[in-house]
Amino acid sequence: MKKLTFRLTEIVSAAFEKCGYDPALGTVTVSDRMDLCQFQCNGALSGAKLYRKAPIMIAKDVAALLSSRDEFSRVEAVNPGFINITLTDGFLLSVLNEIKDDENAGVPQCEKPETLVIDYGGPNVAKPLHIGHLRSAIIGESLKRTARATGRKVISDVHFGDWGTPYGLTLAEYKVRHPDWTCFKDDFDPARDTVPEIDEAEMNEIYPFASAKSKEDPEFKTASRQTVVDLQNRKPGIFDLWKKIKDVSVESVKRSYERLSVDFDYWYGESDSDCYTPELLDILNKKGLMYESDGAMVVDVSGEGDKTDVPPIIIKKSDNSSIYATFDLATIIQREKDFKPDRIWYLTDKRQSLHFLQVFRCAKKAGLVPENVELRHLGFGAITGPDGKPYKTRDGGVMQLSTLIDTVEEAAFEKLRDSEYITGDKKDAAHRIGIAALKFGDLSNQPTKDYVFDPEKFLSFDGKTGTYLLYTVTRINSILKKAGIDYGEKRELTGIFSDGERELALQLALCGESFEKALEDMAPSALCESAYNIASSFSKFYHDNRILTEENHAKQSGWLALSLLTRRLLVKLLDCLAIETVENM
Ligand code: ARG
Repeated sequence: MKKLTFRLTEIVSAAFEKCGYDPALGTVTVSDRMDLCQFQCNGALSGAKLYRKAPIMIAKDVAALLSSRDEFSRVEAVNPGFINITLTDGFLLSVLNEIKDDENAGVPQCEKPETLVIDYGGPNVAKPLHIGHLRSAIIGESLKRTARATGRKVISDVHFGDWGTPYGLTLAEYKVRHPDWTCFKDDFDPARDTVPEIDEAEMNEIYPFASAKSKEDPEFKTASRQTVVDLQNRKPGIFDLWKKIKDVSVESVKRSYERLSVDFDYWYGESDSDCYTPELLDILNKKGLMYESDGAMVVDVSGEGDKTDVPPIIIKKSDNSSIYATFDLATIIQREKDFKPDRIWYLTDKRQSLHFLQVFRCAKKAGLVPENVELRHLGFGAITGPDGKPYKTRDGGVMQLSTLIDTVEEAAFEKLRDSEYITGDKKDAAHRIGIAALKFGDLSNQPTKDYVFDPEKFLSFDGKTGTYLLYTVTRINSILKKAGIDYGEKRELTGIFSDGERELALQLALCGESFEKALEDMAPSALCESAYNIASSFSKFYHDNRILTEENHAKQSGWLALSLLTRRLLVKLLDCLAIETVENM
């Protein structure tokens, strides 16, 4: 199905053309004054210059032509030249019935099939997930699901950090602590020798320790540099220890992602890009793009209009080791070979914007992907405490992701402890409600902005919260159950009997708009907005009408059909936000 505004634009554009104006002026948008009209077209304002005519005259010409159409109950030309449009209930109902019959529930499908690779999550081996990893995981998961819902082929890759400087530090510190391990001996033989079991607690603590130590201890720093070279050369022993650590890390990271219903098609790491590095170097050399600077090999990526300095990108360090940028470039070669993507999207916090600018420019310069492939970075803002500073643990440390999840789940459990409505597993309900609150609290913000982490607010039953949305779904569940209606049933919508229903019907008809918008802006907040608008109009409708005791059969059946469709669209939106619902609460 096409977006409703797209269909209206087609009608209004044709009217502009019929009146002798450019059809491109007919763009229709959702009204920002719903009290006046449902939709608006501002094209006459832009047409004024072109046709040397007062905009209101143009608007009047077009409005006069549109007034007779069945789709519109009111079309008005309003000073200085707006065209205000309101739909007839009949047309609105026909749109809802089309949505009801559509297998994609009215979500507009991408016209030409395209492949999108999304690189999100970005965990690191031997470093537990912390609060900084939350946004990448949940925004990425949501964009993945949303793009899939629009018919795109989407490939998700976690892009594990596992091959750079941090692992030199980690492995070097292991050697200091466990010098007797055979993996550190020069004659280590993987066929004969084994690596000891890795203690997860030590593994989680070792990197920050080693990182701090390297700042004060130059000898240790040198040792760790050599270790990363050894790792990248796959030196027996070092490489085997790394493999073991990686296995433990991946398992632990997967557990955290599972709690968030976040999943990936590929669990590739930086190390998997390693085999494409020779090809990368070859291309850069052949194209004459790489040169030596202070012993390192770099590529110039400055651009003509740059307002701030974009320094050359380092491909190889002076000790010939590869770094973060090398892995990203080599991974682009891999993705192009394996997936031929039309777009590759990356999600990290915004401090990495410069890195991605350099990588994208280098990739395009070197022709690693065709010119028309979109390489796009979403740099998101931080999660802060009430003071606007990054959210910390009580003692000022970095908040682990698992602790953060525990915090909201426990708060949700406290809230539900005495609820008589939850008949099933309360722990499971608390998990779903807690995660919904956490995700909605994040996703409802503009991704690029910081937001305050406030579990109390996120778990409120009122306002723009995940909790409110789940609660709305449970209200609908209860009505449908009492009426003996299966959630999957499709019922014809037959009439609109009040303003509240009209408002709800309009919000349902507009649901499809939010999917493209979320993808255009890389911002699931558009879906949150739509879900909230639907839920709050449903609440009003529910409040105004006694659905189950209504005696007028036609009315009641229309209301039940409306409730069914509301549920279906809410669940669809929530699914694209990777939020699971609960049966009752
Ligand atoms: N591991 C990185 C970090 O913790 C994020 C990886 C993001 N993806 C990428 N292709 N660079 O900062």
